[in-house]
Amino acid sequence: MKKASMILDKDYQVSRIDKRIYGSFIEHLGRAVYGGIYEPGHPEADEKGFRKDVMAAVKKLGVPIVRYPGGNFVSGFNWEDSVGPIEQRPKRLDLAWFTTETNEVGLHEFFDWTQKADSELMYAINLGTRGPENARDIVEYANHKGGSKFSDMRIANGRKDPFNIKLWCLGNEMDGPWQMGHKTGYEYGRTANEAAKIMKWVDPTIELVACGSSNTEMPTFGSYELEMLEECYENIDYVSLHRYYGNPTQDTPGFLARSMDMDEFIHTVASICDAVKGKKHSKKQLNLSFDEWNVWYHSNEQDQEIWKQDKWNRALPLLEDIYNFEDALLVGSMLMTLIRNADRVKIACLAQLVNVIAPIMTRNGGGCWAQTTYYPFMHASLYGRGTALQALVSSPVYDCADYEGVPYIDSAAVLHDDGSVTVFCVNRDMKEDYELSIDLRSFGDLKFAEHILLHHDDVKAVNTEDEPDNVIPTAGPGGKIDSGKAEIRIPALSWNVIRFI
Ligand code: AHR
Repeated sequence: MKKASMILDKDYQVSRIDKRIYGSFIEHLGRAVYGGIYEPGHPEADEKGFRKDVMAAVKKLGVPIVRYPGGNFVSGFNWEDSVGPIEQRPKRLDLAWFTTETNEVGLHEFFDWTQKADSELMYAINLGTRGPENARDIVEYANHKGGSKFSDMRIANGRKDPFNIKLWCLGNEMDGPWQMGHKTGYEYGRTANEAAKIMKWVDPTIELVACGSSNTEMPTFGSYELEMLEECYENIDYVSLHRYYGNPTQDTPGFLARSMDMDEFIHTVASICDAVKGKKHSKKQLNLSFDEWNVWYHSNEQDQEIWKQDKWNRALPLLEDIYNFEDALLVGSMLMTLIRNADRVKIACLAQLVNVIAPIMTRNGGGCWAQTTYYPFMHASLYGRGTALQALVSSPVYDCADYEGVPYIDSAAVLHDDGSVTVFCVNRDMKEDYELSIDLRSFGDLKFAEHILLHHDDVKAVNTEDEPDNVIPTAGPGGKIDSGKAEIRIPALSWNVIRFI
């Protein structure tokens, strides 16, 4: 068996982990809302039409924030369409996804859904086809107590108390030419700044996320952040990062190394924020909102076929990636990357939550099941709260097409407030089990509590409605701990949660 080691010290800490890094995202796209969380007439639908089986699956994930209503969708969205009597709401063409938006679910309904899900709404505004005026209006509608045009409109629409939405996204991926109202870094920075200023004049307690690049491969990546931050640095609180990975060449070792790109992305954007801070002689530090991340590639060709046959229908089955076991491993590594960068990443959203590149799938009129990626997310959300530890890890490494020195053992460690410790790790080695020795002597008398394992012999194994338990967590082989030194067996190609209490 190969060997790897990890030294942890209770005083060697990265940062408190903001629980909002376990956020997710629901866009008015495909069957995320219609046929996902909402399906009136389904045997599991509640009195408002929301599926209770989906709600139960969401609650088990422990998602503290949900970004909504887009995504690309938001750049053509008029928030006023989504409030007021449902039967009077307009149907609109959604030019982001070539579907028809019926607005049956809108701000009030979705807010109530997030409350039931024990979550908070992270609301994105349209800075594509719209601008600061509408941004101001929606903050007044949502957060002002009453006695003004838009707050009184909210009250007339049945909601006396303000929603008090705290976290707002200033548009979506405005660097992308595919975006309605695409802007240069300068144009976006100016618009975001003016929107931010007046949104905060309406409600100074809100926090704002400005759009960074939509991914690291954009030709403007880096310069976009610099240009837009030059204009809006002092009025915003976070910069957004988005990143999706795929494995179209069927290169598993290369695919599993993609989290190294994510790590580099985080460090680059944090450095750009700090460079602008220095240039502006500012006292303020900006943090990061990684508000779209996931694996996304399985459904790309299928979506082109759907659009060839069926543009403009409601709730087209778009972006329905079926995730396999290797996808779950990369999702685990991406989660650990967020934990290890907890000092700068304060918000993150797995994109998305239901049906659309999602851990939870449904069939219209049928069942609801967990994809492979559901499990690492659930584990990280459940056992990844507290303080991120700076682990000293020594692991054999490998080289692949895009990276050199990829550690076979990828890991993160969390100290919980009750003194217990969780170690997460992915073994990227396709063949070899590892013996991982963990030095925990500084934590006092910790006992080995549990080893949760996600493994399947077939990297392409998936869960389906008929076989929902094909890839599910089991008890791992565990190991021993003696005088603060643990030795745990980490099977080849696996996601592991090792708990010491
Ligand atoms: O999450 C799917 C899409 O990916 C979002 O709408 C967009 O922001 C990104 O390109």
